[in-house]
Amino acid sequence: MGGFFKSSIGRKVAMALSAFFLMFFLLQHFAINILSVFSPDTFNEVSHFMGTNALIQYGLQPVLIFGVVFHFVMGFILELKNKSARKISYAKNHGAANSTWTSRNMIWSGLAILAFIVLHFIDFWFPEINTKFIEGDWSGLHDGEFRYFHELQEKFLSPVRVGAYVVAFVLLMLHLLHGFTSAFQSMGATAGRKKTLQNIGKAYAIIIPLGFIVIAIYHHFNHIH
Ligand code: HEM
Repeated sequence: MGGFFKSSIGRKVAMALSAFFLMFFLLQHFAINILSVFSPDTFNEVSHFMGTNALIQYGLQPVLIFGVVFHFVMGFILELKNKSARKISYAKNHGAANSTWTSRNMIWSGLAILAFIVLHFIDFWFPEINTKFIEGDWSGLHDGEFRYFHELQEKFLSPVRVGAYVVAFVLLMLHLLHGFTSAFQSMGATAGRKKTLQNIGKAYAIIIPLGFIVIAIYHHFNHIH
């Protein structure tokens, strides 16, 4: 088994498995965040549950962080191996003739998403860790009310942040558009099923980032004091 994951195809399968895991995370992250548009109260309650449930905090959260780090590290290794597999580059590389722009630039869209995640953690995750683990406040309250919805709206006041988030979500869309095709390929999707799977993948890759864009822009323009 160790040998398999050191082989080229093994690495691709590991990459695809971690990608599916992250796509599942993104789906539930979106499902919870979109609640903030339709029902701030429900969003507050679900956020409080997710943020204070021991199984989620100490079980799933570390697995998620591992999944994110694994996907990035593996992505870099694959990129380096692909580059060094052919020490002398092609004299003529008409990339556009037989590959798409997104497939050739997965490392760059990936790096942009990594930069977004750093910003996103500074915005949301570190303050959350600070409140709970440093200040020891697990109540989820501020001035007698749940604080999550207001904290989220505060962040989207700044047009610069909203702009940065929107750019990141567009790059996420490009990354996912190729990522899905590639992950199905690595998992050996058969020709018959391929078309349906590709279409589901395309729909996901477009709808989820667009949905995140709607959330960010909605809160920018609909701030409740
Ligand atoms: C408008 C869009 C988004 C909003 C409003 C949002 C909001 C949040 C909030 C409030 C948290 C803190 C959760 C907590 O720890 O209590 C969080 C965590 C996180 N977000 Fe987002 N998010 C958005 C988009 C994204 C996207 C597109 C990604 C991935 C590409 C992402 C990845 C993460 C990750 C990995 C965490 C840490 C999860 C954890 O362990 O708690 N988010 N987000």
